[in-house]
Amino acid sequence: MNKNPKPKNLFVGFNWKMNPNTITEAQELFQIYNDLNVDLSFLPVIFVPNIYLYPLQKQNFSDIDFGTQNISSKTAGAFTSQISGQMLTSVGVKYVLINHSETHRNLKLDFETIQGKFKQAIGNDLTTVLCVSCNDQETAKADLENQLQNIFNSELTQRVKSQKAIFYIALEPILNIGSGKALDCENINKYLEIISEFMAKIEFTKNQDYHTLYGGSVNASNLIEIGKCDQVDGFLIGGASIDPDQITQIFNLLK
Ligand code: PGA
Repeated sequence: MNKNPKPKNLFVGFNWKMNPNTITEAQELFQIYNDLNVDLSFLPVIFVPNIYLYPLQKQNFSDIDFGTQNISSKTAGAFTSQISGQMLTSVGVKYVLINHSETHRNLKLDFETIQGKFKQAIGNDLTTVLCVSCNDQETAKADLENQLQNIFNSELTQRVKSQKAIFYIALEPILNIGSGKALDCENINKYLEIISEFMAKIEFTKNQDYHTLYGGSVNASNLIEIGKCDQVDGFLIGGASIDPDQITQIFNLLK
């Protein structure tokens, strides 16, 4: 049996969030990924805290790509504490996570800032993983459409199209993130279809212009099942991405 449900393009994002606590621990954790990276048939991307990007990149002897968990919406200048797209590209970063619900909440992101981040990503050849979150079943459709409508204003839509920038949209149901319980396949497909229907209205075609991911308590015991959901082109994995046993199992399941 081919255990890998969609071997060709399966995107697997590992979101370390604000972990681990020291560079030594980060290097030890990354070494686990490094050692597992043999003939992979999926696309692993690790989103590490920015301060670890450069040292881990130097340690990297694998095909694993790095992503940042945040990017400034500005180009350069008097923006204390921020990190620009050009800085990130200069240390080999390839992907950027934009609008993760934890970032959205903690940094109180408004839509203009999210658009600015997306534009900076495009301008610096970084591939965007745009997170959209939803609450419970009653509000999910409105939650998703509202975010997409506000993010993809005509200016951003034109910019993305004119640059032919391929991107990912990650469905992140808030109730499932960090809960240990993933959303069921029926609802994952339903919510991802809501996203695709909206995107079709602004003339973005799934699997051509963008791909759709699921994030929220993905781990070694549910990943194959979730990967079989029609609309899922990959995962965003949080908690399991910093657990050595889970990392090993996930790589072995997918390779
Ligand atoms: P989780 O996080 O896997 O710990 O639920 C997912 C995410 O925040 O992307």
